[in-house]
Amino acid sequence: MNDPTPAGVVAPTPIRIFDTTLRDGEQSPGCSMTPQQKVVMARALAELGVDVIETGFPASSESDREAARLIARELRAPTLAVLSRCLPADIEASARALEIAANPRLHVFISTSPLHREHKLRMSKAQVLEATAACVAQARRHVDDVEFSTEDGTRTEREFLAEVIGAAIAAGATTINVPDTLGYTTPDEMRALFAFLIETVPGARGVVFSAHCHDDLGLAVANSLAAIEGGARQVECTVNGIGERAGNCAMEELVMALKVRGAWYGADTGIDTRRLVPTSQLLSRLVGMPVQRNKAVVGANAFAHESGIHQHGMLRHRGTYEIMHPEDVGWPDSKMVLGRHSGRAAFSHRLRALGYALEDAQLEQAFAGFKALCERQRVVEDRDLEALMHGDVNGE
Ligand code: KIV
Ligand code: ZN
Repeated sequence: MNDPTPAGVVAPTPIRIFDTTLRDGEQSPGCSMTPQQKVVMARALAELGVDVIETGFPASSESDREAARLIARELRAPTLAVLSRCLPADIEASARALEIAANPRLHVFISTSPLHREHKLRMSKAQVLEATAACVAQARRHVDDVEFSTEDGTRTEREFLAEVIGAAIAAGATTINVPDTLGYTTPDEMRALFAFLIETVPGARGVVFSAHCHDDLGLAVANSLAAIEGGARQVECTVNGIGERAGNCAMEELVMALKVRGAWYGADTGIDTRRLVPTSQLLSRLVGMPVQRNKAVVGANAFAHESGIHQHGMLRHRGTYEIMHPEDVGWPDSKMVLGRHSGRAAFSHRLRALGYALEDAQLEQAFAGFKALCERQRVVEDRDLEALMHGDVNGE
């Protein structure tokens, strides 16, 4: 594919993938996991090659504390993060849960938007600033790697957001995460916000900026890409996009957007993309939530073609109707689904694959039988074609 490369983009920029399937993803209704299930999933995430795994919220439950400890005992390579509110007791619980981790990260957050300050925290701007500095400093006394998040950051007054982030950096935060907690932002706003913060906050160039986008308007992936354009170098996401309400930025979609349009974004995630589908299926089995068929990249229909025009094109050149190879994301192959919309090309191709080489007249007759069958059933499988060829259909 010929992507127009924007001026100035030269070498791929590494983008850190921070996976929060086991924390924000697990907060999705019906998606809670046992500590043992989290260990299984964490192994798969490590194999996939994510940079950071957020394993839970230790102050919230014994199950989260146990999961954090079990994962820390087993996985040495990726950075392991846990979440805390800006509360001393939360941060102590998190520090204890990661005591044995090889690469621990404490992730602390506080709400910054007017609505959250007034109705949730009941705190003034000055109190939020004070709490930010205190909790980041407390976390830094335990570990060198501290991430700070401004909950509802995208609905916060820009100048105040910059002030809070400045206080977090001054107190020792090494990653600054600006969540679009409500999935409210648009890509233009996101790009501009990150560019503004990186440009204006003192010390911003010495830390990693991170995007954390929710999908309430279906914009989580687009907003994450826009944040990268604005200067973010870490993206937080979940497998299958699970998460609060409409979910989080879907990892498989973000990673493939960066890979397929790599020249445009000039970014590289280092993810083993062939493990995307197996990891998606593993999560789906663990939490018992099916992946919608038309889900990009990992849905059963993502590489399935039914219409005659598309199948004809695919048989001539895969690039006519596919922008990525199914094998590159972990599917065995593309699927040619035979149904009411299919044409002769795909029908005869499938028959040849099953060992039937028909003359033109025979093919016409068989095709008429196939079309009649399609009026009665949505999808025609190989066994139906065998029956058709042996005259078992329609009682012939
Ligand atoms: O969506 C959000 O704001 C969050 C933070 C707690 C990181 O999940
Ligand atoms: Zn979130």
